Parts: sequence; C-alpha cells; structure tokens
Amino acid sequence: MKKFITAALALMLCAAGYAQGETHNHSSDPQLASPDGTKLHRCKHTGIIKTKIPQRPEGQKDVVGLRVAPLDTVRVGFIGLGMRGPDAVRRFGLMEGTSVKALCDKHQDRVDKAQKKLTDTGRPAADVYVGDEAWKQLCERPDIDLVYIATDWVNHVPMAVYAMEHGKHVAVEVPAAMNLDECWQLIDTAEKTQKHCMMLENCVYDFFELTTLNMAQQGLFGDILHVEGSYIHNLEDFWKHYEGNWRLDFNEKHRGDVYATHGMGPAAQLVNLHRGNKMNYIVSMDTRPATGPKHVKEISGRESADFKNGDHTMSMIQTENGQTMHIQHDVMNPRPYSRMYQLTGTEGFANKYMQEGYAFRDVSNIEGVPDHEDLNSHKFVPEDVKKALMEKYKHPIQKEIEEEARKVGGHGGMDYIMDYRLVYCLLNGLPLDQDVYDAAEWSAIGELSRISIENNSSPVEVPDFTRGAWKKLNGYHHYMKGE
Ligand SMILES: NC(=O)c1ccc[n+]([C@@H]2O[C@H](COP(=O)([O-])OP(=O)(O)OC[C@H]3O[C@@H](n4cnc5c(N)ncnc54)[C@H](O)[C@@H]3O)[C@@H](O)[C@H]2O)c1
Repeated sequence: MKKFITAALALMLCAAGYAQGETHNHSSDPQLASPDGTKLHRCKHTGIIKTKIPQRPEGQKDVVGLRVAPLDTVRVGFIGLGMRGPDAVRRFGLMEGTSVKALCDKHQDRVDKAQKKLTDTGRPAADVYVGDEAWKQLCERPDIDLVYIATDWVNHVPMAVYAMEHGKHVAVEVPAAMNLDECWQLIDTAEKTQKHCMMLENCVYDFFELTTLNMAQQGLFGDILHVEGSYIHNLEDFWKHYEGNWRLDFNEKHRGDVYATHGMGPAAQLVNLHRGNKMNYIVSMDTRPATGPKHVKEISGRESADFKNGDHTMSMIQTENGQTMHIQHDVMNPRPYSRMYQLTGTEGFANKYMQEGYAFRDVSNIEGVPDHEDLNSHKFVPEDVKKALMEKYKHPIQKEIEEEARKVGGHGGMDYIMDYRLVYCLLNGLPLDQDVYDAAEWSAIGELSRISIENNSSPVEVPDFTRGAWKKLNGYHHYMKGE
C-alpha cells in the first residue's frame, strides 16, 4: 500500500511540470540533449520529456483576456513587403479605422510596389524605411500603434520584441516563433509591456472553419473528442521566390513540423486551448527527407548532405480534457492542398478536405434543416442539408463582414476577416481573437515535434505557456462591441 501511495505521489509530482530550478522526479539524461544543446529532462515515472518553463518574473502579470484602451484609429507600420506583405497593406488601405503610416523592407523596389498598392486604394503615401536595420526606426516612431510583421521566420521574434518594448502592439506572420526560447521571449515581453501580440493565423477565419466552430460551440457535435489539422501544400513553384532562399534554408537545418499553425489554429479553437483546456504532451514521427534535398540541388546547385526536415511529419497531442489532436506537415510532395480540418464529436463529425461535409447521429430535431428519412451518421448529410446548416449556423462575424471580405479578397476573404477583427478589437478595446499564448502554443509544435522525433518519438510535455492561467477563461470566444 505504502509503495502504491509513493508511486501515485511521484506521478502527481511528475504531472505538475518542470519549472526552473525544480529537480524532483526527473532524470537528466545527457543523451537527451538536443544537437543545439537544449537541456531536456525525462520524468522517471511517466517517460515524458520536459523542457524548461522559465519562472514568471516578479511583478509580471499574465495577459489572458488582455484589454487596453480603445484606439480612435489604428495607426500601422508594415515590415516585410515580399510575397505576403503588400496585400496586407492594400487590405488596410481599404479598411475603415486605419491609417498606414510607414512601410519597410530591405529592398527599395519592394517598398515602392507596396506604396503603389496603398495609394491605389486612395490613401496618402506612407513614410518609407529601406535597409537591414531600418525597421528599428519604424518601431521607434511615436505615432504608430501597431507593427505588422511579414518578414522571413527568423526575423519575427527580434522585431516583435523590439516593437513591444517600444510601446507598440504587434501582429506577426506565421509561425510567430521558431523555437521554445522564442515563444517564451514573446510571452515575457507581452506580459512585461502589457501589449497585444497576435500571430496572423488567417486559417481560423475561413468560412467553413468559422461556421463549424459556431456549430461546435452550440453543441451540434456533442463533446469534441478528436481534431485534425495540417499544412499539406506542395511548394515547388514557390521555393525559389523566398528572399535569400530563407524558407528552404530553414527546412534544411530544422527537423520537425516547422509550419504547424495553419492546422493547429482551427483545431485549437475547437478544443478551447488555454481557455479551460491545455495540451499535455506531443508525440511526433517523420519520414526521411526525400524531395527536400532535391530542391536544394535545383536551387543552389549543391548536394545537401544533411537535410533535416522530413518530407512528411505527423504529430499527435493529448489534451488535459482527454481529447486528441493530429497535425501533419508536407510541403514537398505532389498532394492536393489540404489543411485536413476535421473533428469528431460524440454526436457528429465535420471534415473539410478532400470532401467537405458533416455527419450527425441525428439531425431530425435541428430546426430549419430539411428532414430526409435516410439520414444517418454513416455518411455525410446531403448537400441541401449541409447548405441549410451552414446558413443557419453562419458565424456572426461572417454575417457582419462576408460580403466585404469576399470583395477585398486575400485567400478568398479570410485574410481580410483576420485584419478586420484585429482592427475591430483594437478600436473597441477588446481582447484579441488570438493572444500571445495562442501564438506560442501553435508555433511551439515546431521544436516540440523535433524533440520527440529526435528521441524515437518520445512523448514531450507541451509547456503551459500561461504558467497557471489556462483556466481563467471558460471556452474560446470572439469578443464583440459592448462586451
Ligand atoms: N498566413 C499565410 O497564409 C501566409 C502566406 C504566405 C506567407 N506567410 C508568412 O509571411 C511571411 C513572409 O513570407 P513571404 O512569402 O512574403 O516571404 P518573402 O521572402 O517573399 O518576403 C519576406 C520579405 O521580408 C523582407 N525582409 C527580410 N528581412 C528584413 C529586414 N531586416 N527588414 C525589412 N524587411 C526585411 C524581405 O526583403 C522580403 O521582402 C512568412 O512568415 C510566411 O510564413 C503567411
């Protein structure tokens, strides 16, 4: 009996996480050190590998549900005007309540192109900043509220941190951070400065995802048990267009799911991550890199002897509330585009790729939906039922902005909805739809999956990035005016 109690106690302690300076129940196995020197600990009792959770500095507060004073106009500066950035400038030019103050890139011609997109919307020209370090001057300007970052991945965190330290809110492209240390840097800076730091995860605003989230929140699928998401996109037409070849370089040097956020975002909102739920641990596996090295040869003319990123990476995550998440990444091979987006609940099922549809145990009692006698959960509901459901459960945000979003465009409208919601929340002093902990949780899959893969698919603890505040909110919520 005594033995049993001791073992149970040890397990409870193990489950409590590994904070800085905490040593009980963890073996420090030197073989667990990652090639980059990251210090890892494996719990002797659960076998789970734990990474270090830095202590929150005294006096620093979490930013769960952060509200700041409403802005009259959102004055914005853009950094990074390659393939992605200029269209964000155009979208802001077309949006009420915004003023585009500054544009920055390393290259003059890129700034000029974005400036033209801005003036074509009828807005005045913005001030321009050109060169490697010019972004710092943009962040230092006193007349900017929001710095919008669309550069290559390794610049995201240094720029975001600098901007917040200079009193700015930050919107940063995906993934916001490329490793755990960078995730903690974003969190500590947002908490220290009490500034918003939103990752620009647009896929949570696609129409099917928004509607399905609304249906889930209204209980149509029962209890959600399993969610899926991915980034499966053959990038062979794009590789050579990234400035300085940054994207292939990063893939060459890093193993793991380095671009998880498009799959993670919509899945995370369905299971209410850090709004009464949290991810406990992740297990990952990858294929060998087969196509990646071929692209290096084509683009750089050299052999890639040690290409790290497996062509296909899969991760499975267990949540505190007993759900599973399955996330995949393949940007190398000839597959139809897919973000997988799937959910299984006790009463229903939703799926976006390759066939979009819903299945339910019983739809006969859903008011306003056609009743077919042969409806059953073994197949998707017929198209007219799906259409009626999607109309009935159209998300209030979509109702408000769909027409304008489809007109302005940007991945069919979801990019505009993302920017619109960011501006709407800033103008109304509301918590943003995505906070710094979302940015960290969804981006952290990169390094956490790498650690798992490098240790024979061992389970790796997903740190509680809120450091204890994950139960403060109850369920995922888009805030609306007056709340
Ligand atoms: N959410 C989406 O759907 C989506 C789609 C595409 C790209 N992205 C993200 O957008 C970001 C940019 O991707 P991209 O395809 O535009 O890449 P890109 O290489 O075309 O553009 C990056 C730009 O950043 C600029 N830059 C780099 N360092 C700079 C510095 N020090 N100062 C100023 N400018 C600097 C480069 O000159 C370049 O113009 C990436 O994070 C990517 O993951 C997101």
